[in-house]
Amino acid sequence: MKKIINDLSVYLSGNNEFKTILFVHGFPFDHTMWQTQVDEFSKDYKCVSYDIRGLGKSPAGDGQFTMESFVDDLELILDELKLDKPILCGLSMGGYISLRALERIQEKFSAAILFDTRSEADNNEDKLKRAAGIKRINKEGLAPFAKDFITNCFGDDFKQNRKEAFQKIIEKSSQFNPVGVKGCLLSMLSRSDTTMNLGKIIIPTLLICGEQDTLTPPPVMKDMFHKINKAEFVEIPKAGHMTPIENPQAVNKAIRDFLMKNML
Ligand code: MLT
Repeated sequence: MKKIINDLSVYLSGNNEFKTILFVHGFPFDHTMWQTQVDEFSKDYKCVSYDIRGLGKSPAGDGQFTMESFVDDLELILDELKLDKPILCGLSMGGYISLRALERIQEKFSAAILFDTRSEADNNEDKLKRAAGIKRINKEGLAPFAKDFITNCFGDDFKQNRKEAFQKIIEKSSQFNPVGVKGCLLSMLSRSDTTMNLGKIIIPTLLICGEQDTLTPPPVMKDMFHKINKAEFVEIPKAGHMTPIENPQAVNKAIRDFLMKNML
């Protein structure tokens, strides 16, 4: 079922009586990146996913986004749907949103699953890359940027063995609103560093990272894992930065084991 909440496209499945898993996707993707997880966990959870403002079917508006406004959107969805302490699942940019949400409103969640993400803010080199990305989109349109960015997100196994699926993902993201994509780049460039808060996370937390992830490699996530009290770390074989798409079986097993262990 699709709902519009504060202009955002929100997707619900599973039984209303069940505990909720709330999925926050990465950049430059949309809620469909969680399809395999939603299919699996809708059997015994309520799954809520949405398109982050500016991406997928959610409107870009003026494109003036910050990580704070993304957390405001997340909180509004949570409140509007009256979700009772959902399990928060965020990947990469969705992880930045989740980490800042854990800093602001940890009490609203029962557990967190952080995929292929980092707590550090962008350094100068990262900021200049974002600026170059915006300049490139202005000059060449969105498609060449989307193709190169997404190519870096996936590991070699997926790119070689799932050529058609990989092309479809690129084509879809290339059709997003460039204003929304540039707004997301600015929001990531200007986000705050959430490292200091990692020691204050008290809810069970699972960190998942693809063994071939070059954007947020395993050592980066292992470092985060050591800073969080009740954390677990799982490395996913044959996967790059987009673990839920690249190796859904291993990801779903890691999620399932974590949920069972913590009786969620
Ligand atoms: C993502 O997958 O959301 C992006 O790689 C995040 C980023 O560019 O920092």
